[in-house]
Amino acid sequence: CKSGSPPLSNNSANTELFSSDEDSSLYFTYSGEGNELEVSNLHYEVDTSAQIPWYEKLSEFKLPWEVKGNKQTAINNLSLRVRSGQMLAVIGSSGCGKTSLLDIITCRDEGGRMTCGHVLINGKPNTPQLVKKSIAHVRQDDRLLPHLTVRETLCFVAKLRLPSHFSQAQRDQRVDDVIAELRLRQCAHTRVGNDYVRGVSGGERRRVSIAVQLLWNPGILILDEPTSGLDSFTAHNLVITLSRLAKGNRLILLSVHQPRSDIFQLFDLVVLLSSGSAVYFGAARDMVPYFTALGHPCPRYCNPSDFYG
Ligand SMILES: Nc1ncnc2c1ncn2[C@@H]1O[C@H](COP(=O)(O)OP(=O)(O)OP(=O)(O)O)[C@@H](O)[C@H]1O
Ligand SMILES: [Mg+2]
Repeated sequence: CKSGSPPLSNNSANTELFSSDEDSSLYFTYSGEGNELEVSNLHYEVDTSAQIPWYEKLSEFKLPWEVKGNKQTAINNLSLRVRSGQMLAVIGSSGCGKTSLLDIITCRDEGGRMTCGHVLINGKPNTPQLVKKSIAHVRQDDRLLPHLTVRETLCFVAKLRLPSHFSQAQRDQRVDDVIAELRLRQCAHTRVGNDYVRGVSGGERRRVSIAVQLLWNPGILILDEPTSGLDSFTAHNLVITLSRLAKGNRLILLSVHQPRSDIFQLFDLVVLLSSGSAVYFGAARDMVPYFTALGHPCPRYCNPSDFYG
């Protein structure tokens, strides 16, 4: 290098550069009991005409109760079971029902109706109270205060969300652990920002959203498309972090839109949806042999989640 900067092949420089990624220790383990999530024979219908406001129907001289609904099946006869220590990925093309499934599990489904089946969390039906206690749901859009720094955001949540018997020192310790777990140390004092206020990067903001939920140490973590909008390197790192969290005895359920093959390999279980029906549910490594046995081999050098999704 002519400019006189030290050569990149220098070993100590390399170690320094990449040390944060090589750090694979678990800072933050889950000490609670194991959890199990079960969905059986789920059938979910949405009424697409319900979104048109009733007063618009008055122009047709119809009363609201005279208007017939336009029912559409969003999820059809879906069953799955996942327990602590496992990471289940819901994959499939756009509009196949991934968000609907996660919303039903977390009792946030609006505009639709579950016509049969049930969702059980540790053998109990998923009521909003039970969901609030046991499940952390990271939605696709980040809802954070843009003017707070990453650490301030987490300290604020720690004050509100952690039980009252926690001392200030314990709260600070928890914030430090979560920052270390999600590798947010280098941006801990940068403000979060949003579309209008420049702040941390998109990938860091996704990790802050996850950190906010992880702070109260949930046993079940549900994430809707956490990797969307991220470059493949950041997406891969994020899923590695989630996989580490699953190994810390948590249950991780995430939806992903056609993941890269190296991300796909990190999943324990996969459910492949097509128009609301599960085409495959089982171990991620068995998916290709399953479809091959059915006469649909994945072409060589082709990403299975691209090909089957
Ligand atoms: N409340 C609702 N009202 C009307 N239609 C709905 C409603 N909820 C879901 N749908 C329909 O159900 C289908 C599944 O939607 P969903 O949002 O679950 O898809 P998705 O798999 O998350 O897609 P994407 O990958 O694009 O986010 C879509 O056709 C959608 O239009
Ligand atoms: Mg979605």
